[in-house]
Order: sequence, then C-alpha cells, then structure tokens
Amino acid sequence: MSSHLQAKGPNVTVVQKFLNKSARIVVVGQGYVGLPLAVEFARAGFPVTGLDTDPTRVASLNLGRSHSPDVQSEDLSSLLGTGRYGASCDFSALERGDAIIICVPTPLRKSKDPDISYVVAAAGEVAARFRPGQLVVLESTTYPGTTEELLLPLFEARGARVGENFFLAFSPERIDPGNPAFKVKDIPKVVGGITPECTRLAAALYGEIVPRVHTVSTPKVAELAKLYENVFRNVNIALANEFAIMCARLGVDSREVIDAAASKPFGFMPFYPGPGIGGHCIPVDPLYLSWKMRLNGYEAQFIALADEINRSMPGHTVTLVADALNDTGRPVKGARILVLGVAYKRGVGDTRESPAHEIIAALFRRGAEVSYADPHVPTFTVGGVDLKTVELGEQELRAADCVLIVTDHPEFDYEAVAHQARLIVDTRHSIPPNADRRGALVRL
Ligand SMILES: NC(=O)c1ccc[n+]([C@@H]2O[C@H](COP(=O)([O-])OP(=O)(O)OC[C@H]3O[C@@H](n4cnc5c(N)ncnc54)[C@H](O)[C@@H]3O)[C@@H](O)[C@H]2O)c1
Repeated sequence: MSSHLQAKGPNVTVVQKFLNKSARIVVVGQGYVGLPLAVEFARAGFPVTGLDTDPTRVASLNLGRSHSPDVQSEDLSSLLGTGRYGASCDFSALERGDAIIICVPTPLRKSKDPDISYVVAAAGEVAARFRPGQLVVLESTTYPGTTEELLLPLFEARGARVGENFFLAFSPERIDPGNPAFKVKDIPKVVGGITPECTRLAAALYGEIVPRVHTVSTPKVAELAKLYENVFRNVNIALANEFAIMCARLGVDSREVIDAAASKPFGFMPFYPGPGIGGHCIPVDPLYLSWKMRLNGYEAQFIALADEINRSMPGHTVTLVADALNDTGRPVKGARILVLGVAYKRGVGDTRESPAHEIIAALFRRGAEVSYADPHVPTFTVGGVDLKTVELGEQELRAADCVLIVTDHPEFDYEAVAHQARLIVDTRHSIPPNADRRGALVRL
C-alpha cells in the first residue's frame, strides 16, 4: 500500500476507491502527455476514459492506433480489449469521473504571450459537470498561479468547497516523448494541492502509477518547479549553442570540449548545441514565466537571452550552409540541398516548433531546391509548400550539393551519408569523426 493511501478523514471513500482501483479516471486531452498517462492508469487497473475534442484522434485510438511513441498500438489494443480504456469525445463522461486530469495544450499566441484558452475550455467543461467528491488535477505546463487563480473560481462558482467536497491540485507532466529509458511509470511526480487534503488525495492517486511522489506546499510551487526544469534546459542549451559559435571562431570542435568537460563526475551536466530548439515545451514554457514576471514588474533576463540565442540558431545554420556551398564554388540559389530530419528531436515525428521550418523556408527564399528525408515525418509543409519525404539512398545522397543534418534520427546510416555526400553540414555531430568521407564536413 502506498504511504499516501492511509484512509483517514472525510475522504475515506475517495481514498478507498484509489486503493481498490475502482475510481473512474478521466484524462482530458489524449496527446503526447494525456495518452501515455491514461494508458498507465488503465494498466494499473483503473477504468479510464480518454477525452479529446478531436473525433479523428478518438476514432483512431478506439481502433487501437497509437499516435504516441510511448504507447505501442498492441498495448492500446489489449487495454481496449479489457474495457479498462476507451477514448471519447463525449464530455458527459466527466460526470462519472472520480479523478479528472487535464492535459491539454498550452501554446503561445503570435504575440508570444501564453495561450491558455485550451485550459480554460477544458476546465470549463469539467466545472460545468462538477460532482461533489471529485479530484481535479491540472498537468498542462502553465504560468504560476493558473490552478488557484483561474481554475479554482470556476469550480467555486458551481458550489465546490475546496478541501471539503472538491479537491484541486497541479502536477506537472515530465514525459520525454520517445525516451525509452523514462516512461510515465519511471518518472517521479511533483504534486501541489490547494489544501493539504487536495495534495494528499492527488499524491495517493499518482502513487499508484509512479515510483515516487514529491509533494509541495502549493500548486504555485509545482507550477514553478516545471517551469524551472524547462528554463534550466533552455538556458543550458543556449549556453551550448553560444559556446559552439565561440569554439568555431577559435577553430575548435565544441563537441570535443563538451565531452572533455563531461568527464568530470560532479558539478557538470552536458548539453549540446543544435540547429535550434523545438517541440511543445522548451521554446514555449519559459515564456509563460517571463510573461507572468512582466505582469509583476520584472524582466526575466536569462530567459530573454536564452530565447534570443536559441532563436538565432536556424539562421546560423543557414549561414553555415551558404558558407559551405560558397567554399565549393556554388551559390545557394539553384543548389540541391537534402535535409536529414525535420522533427524537432531524434526518434520522434513531432514537428511542432521544429527549426527545420525556419531553415527550409530560408533556403527556399534564397532559391535553393530543398528536399528532405525523415522516417518519422511523411509530409512536411513549409510556407504553404507541401513536401514529401524522400527515401534516403545512395542516389539522393550523391545528387545533393549539400546534405544538411537537422535531426539526428537513429535510423540514418551516418557512415553511408559520409561516404556518399559531397558536402555535409552536420548540426548534431552525427557523422563519426573517423568516417570515410567523400567530401567536406562542416560541424556546428
Ligand atoms: N509533449 C511533451 O513532451 C510534453 C511534456 C511535458 C509537458 N507537456 C505539456 O502537456 C500539455 C499537453 O501537451 P501535449 O504535447 O500532450 O499536447 P498535444 O497537442 O499532443 O495533445 C493535446 C490534446 O488535447 C486535445 N484537446 C485540446 N483541447 C481540448 C479540450 N478542451 N478538451 C479535450 N481535449 C482537448 C487535442 O485535441 C490534443 O489531442 C501542454 O501543456 C504541454 O506543455 C508536454
């Protein structure tokens, strides 16, 4: 029995339902975060409904087709078979939920301010069907104060008394899609409830599926913990990016320096340069914090600088390509450039905020003929132009004036790339230093 599950106080029934796994869990949003979470609860024995506003996604999940690298379609099918998991667009499922977990997107507006509209819409649906005794947890990454300032009033307006007949907490999702070493069940959870009872109940629930629950005093602490994790990553990637630019000016291989520094067994953690940051988290989340701080009269300087450096990397990559072509006597205009990888990181098909968008758009503007190969991304749209992945083979590699490695997918044969490409710009240091090469190699 989890230490969080000592049934006591007025919520014995709720706790007992968690204990005997009869509590009905509703996960709102079945994306990269919500689907693996729902599946983990179902695997643990809970009856789970995965709610989503996207009927195509719901239909495909109910056919056992997973869109997430962290959920195998076979596993999804067998859970559907047990009846413990089902996807739905029908929000009336919320009425039957004992625990409701919200995992909807938190993107940025064009102005780079937080777009909290999905959270507001989802929480509004949940609050409209509030039933006494429910536990509601927000997992979407968001600015500090969201749970208490935005969600709580929605429920109070429906007669909910927090800590008495309603329990509200924030627990950030930390999943790293496509990372085989750390799945939902391997990653400790941070939980901060509005009241101690809210924290206790939320911790009790998560204690059933994760190795450890770290409780904190308020939802705001939990919201900030997630932001601090991602600001930390963003700032350190920016440092690695600037470091790579400095190393290049000194004629030194940045990777060799970073790997040497990483041999220190304490006080150092390696981060690596790249063509720009992407995905739904690292480029986005820090700006939720700086927005909130601006409202509090403070400019978050590290975040601003890291954002500036990281956002300059796609442009820097295009300059590397242009300079490398120039050295071979070719202009960018008319050059055939083959981009390897358009997903924002290795091993996944997620292209949200991928630097490949900006890089390919800039190459098109300069008149290059760009094609791409990505085993995870069959089609890719840049500036209204629809591109289709090419099969990466000798013919494509030999025909390109420049092969640009944007994403270091494990499926690529880097020895073959080295052997067949006449010019390579490698932003991920994927080409082995001692590879047998046909032509020049430029590394970030
Ligand atoms: N993707 C990651 O690696 C990751 C990691 C940690 C945290 N997060 C955070 O988790 C949250 C969700 O991210 P994601 O990557 O899963 O997003 P996603 O876009 O993959 O999935 C979100 C899902 O929510 C659905 N949705 C939107 N509005 C809805 C509503 N009102 N009701 C029900 N469903 C709705 C969408 O149709 C979509 O299927 C974000 O706040 C994100 O910052 C993401």
